[in-house]
Amino acid sequence: MVVPESRDKMYYPSGDLQRDAHVPDLDSYLELYRKSLENPEVFWQEVADEFFWKKPATGPMLQYNFDVTKGNIYVKCMEGAKTNICYNVLDRHVRERSLGEKVAYYWEGNSPDQHMTITYSQLLSHVCRCANVLRQMGVKKGDRVSIYLPMIPELVYTMLACARIGAVHSIVFAGFSSESLCERIIDTQSSVLVTADGVYRGEKLINLKQIVDEALEKCREKASSSVTKCLVVKHPALRTKSGAACNKLQTPWDSECDVWWDEAMRGSPEECEPEWLDAEDPLFILYTSGSTGKPKGVLHTVAGYMLYTSLTFKYVFDHHHGDVYWCTADIGWITGHSYITYGPLANGATSVLFEGVPVHPHVGRFWEIIEKYKVTKFYTAPTAIRLLMKYGREPLQKYDLSSLRIVGTVGEPINPEAWQWYHEAVGQGRCPVVDTFWQTETGGHVLTPLPAATPLKPGSATFPFFGVEPAILNEHGEELEGEAEGYLVFRRPWPGIMRTLYENHERFENTYFKKFPGFYVTGDGCRRDRDGYYWITGRIDDMLNVSGHLMSTAEVEAALTEHPAVAEAAVVSRPHEVKGECLYCFVSLKDCGEFNRAVVEELKGLGQSSASCWIHVRRRKDAAATIIISAQIG
Ligand code: WT7
Repeated sequence: MVVPESRDKMYYPSGDLQRDAHVPDLDSYLELYRKSLENPEVFWQEVADEFFWKKPATGPMLQYNFDVTKGNIYVKCMEGAKTNICYNVLDRHVRERSLGEKVAYYWEGNSPDQHMTITYSQLLSHVCRCANVLRQMGVKKGDRVSIYLPMIPELVYTMLACARIGAVHSIVFAGFSSESLCERIIDTQSSVLVTADGVYRGEKLINLKQIVDEALEKCREKASSSVTKCLVVKHPALRTKSGAACNKLQTPWDSECDVWWDEAMRGSPEECEPEWLDAEDPLFILYTSGSTGKPKGVLHTVAGYMLYTSLTFKYVFDHHHGDVYWCTADIGWITGHSYITYGPLANGATSVLFEGVPVHPHVGRFWEIIEKYKVTKFYTAPTAIRLLMKYGREPLQKYDLSSLRIVGTVGEPINPEAWQWYHEAVGQGRCPVVDTFWQTETGGHVLTPLPAATPLKPGSATFPFFGVEPAILNEHGEELEGEAEGYLVFRRPWPGIMRTLYENHERFENTYFKKFPGFYVTGDGCRRDRDGYYWITGRIDDMLNVSGHLMSTAEVEAALTEHPAVAEAAVVSRPHEVKGECLYCFVSLKDCGEFNRAVVEELKGLGQSSASCWIHVRRRKDAAATIIISAQIG
């Protein structure tokens, strides 16, 4: 790694930020980075010493094989140790660090009049009660629990309750279709599903319970349904009479299976002994798109994920007591798992938990919330930045953003124009922009600036995090040195990397390790410049990135060809101003098929359930039997 001497315009951290920073300058970063690679045992042991271990490890910090030619791929961290991540991120703060009264979350609903504050001790008691309810429903260590909830506190309660009793959570983003939910329930064989009656997304009321029932019905059609209990939260916005529209919401009910959350929690004890888990026991499964039609169940384990999300959060956001941190992602994605729940809580941080959307009820919603809670660290996606950029600086000027210290992005490459705007208009020229590159699979940040240490170049995720050793390979698997462009790979594991794909270790090895033996292959292209900075150039497989979320063309193609009138479908990506990329679907119908509105609607429905998003189809051209449809995912 070279210390920057570039002619590129660089942005340097302020002395103010450097004064109290955990990693205060580039030399400190380089020194720690060297230590993390040369002596990972010592480096990670120091991190582990911050946590509670019921039993110490018997194996080394990290043990692995990354070379398919030498046997099965595996990664193990702190084998033999026993711990519990929920205990570490909650009980310790309350019992040993007097943080019980500290705010864990400021919950801010879709509508500005909906908000609440949750302290660490309140969080602990909610989690324990939920854990007891799950145990009562028969959930045991190793069982899977599917969670289909909007961004309400019960989502955090449920995931931590699972972690407490050793159940494996599988969170399905609550914008996904019944088809996607069904597929994930079948794959995990979950016995319990936790959901809500409904949710407002902007102006729109969505009947979640109905989607859940459709999903369960589909499960029964395809296989025997594993779900025996469905725990249903009454959404706070649907409790009040003022939400008049709530009367319109019919909540379908099966008294055999369905249980209201409030009724179950009432009388559930506030004490709950955690299940002491092995370091390598599974913590959660989270599905991500694969280059075939079937999503991949990325599996993360307890100890390594805990160490890694905790340390990246501390360093990348330079966390200090007194910060108010806000990550705008949904917990249904890995960003929320790692940097709304586990990472911040491990550090005893105060976070904003936001349910709404950036432009409802007005386009200054984000800035209003930053002012309201005096947010110091703000983390969002390039797609949101580009969307808000369109409204100019005026909405920002109405609010006081002087509390902000660091701003971050994740999800896709950020174009320099959006970077500049984020830095100048939002960060007021004062806040470093941490452009964090990572994946569902990596568990946490792998290429990222450290805000007080790394001179920034707009559009570059800069340098590797501690313990991460990147390399760039050409098509033949030859490693490229210095200035170069090629495949981004990693030479060794860090504690937070995924361990397998759920019940499909073969696909795990084939997808990530087969192409270049000895390396984890990210699937992203990358350039290293003369200063050693890494620039992600985008996916180099059949995946595309829409609004910061990966999907595969094959996934959408497979869904479209399910339609009886469709002969063939080809889906390609196209650049999109706000979303980064969008889809164009080319569909040719069988001879008997006729292109009409009904077919378009049906195709939209199919595309929607496969891409788990909303597709708008427009007719472009109708040449003979081939119809060209453009689809946008929003
Ligand atoms: C893919 C992973 C990690 C949480 C959100 C997405 C792209 C992610 C960046 C960034 C350029 C980025 C990559 C990666 N990506 N962050 N800072 N710069 N590209 O998680 O759905 O697993 O997607 O998102 O293409 O492989 P994911």
